[in-house]
Amino acid sequence: MSAPVKLLLVVAAALVDSDGRVLMAQRPEGKALAGLWEFPGGKVEPGERPEETLIRELAEELGITVKEPCLAPLTFASHAYPDFHLLMPLYICRRWEGIPQSREAQALRWVRPGALRDLPMPPADLPLIPFLIDLLGP
Ligand code: C5P
Repeated sequence: MSAPVKLLLVVAAALVDSDGRVLMAQRPEGKALAGLWEFPGGKVEPGERPEETLIRELAEELGITVKEPCLAPLTFASHAYPDFHLLMPLYICRRWEGIPQSREAQALRWVRPGALRDLPMPPADLPLIPFLIDLLGP
């Protein structure tokens, strides 16, 4: 039998603005994969539902309020990192309250789906790009 794998559940959101651009956040120095651009989100803590996690993370990281009906599942990433396996549902969100602002020293950028490939991203996030292009266009 192969060694047991640690499964990590991280939820992420594609926040889409009225121009069809997606908000990307740059992982800050000191974190794993620092400098890479990712969909905002974070780890599901024990006892949390994924949607609760996402609402909490978007409030903590960006200072916005998202209501659960405004989170629509789009797809997911399943990626083998050397030390764990990441399972990452990606939700689409087009409505929120507040203006997304960096609350945790991360740089933010609104990016057209067709330009996402120009950003360095964690390997788990890359396969999500075609789903956004299908949904939103390039
Ligand atoms: O953000 P956090 O460090 O809690 O995420 C845990 C791990 O999940 C990261 O170290 C990274 O390997 C992975 N991750 C990812 N893509 C994301 C978010 C997290 O690959 N968008």
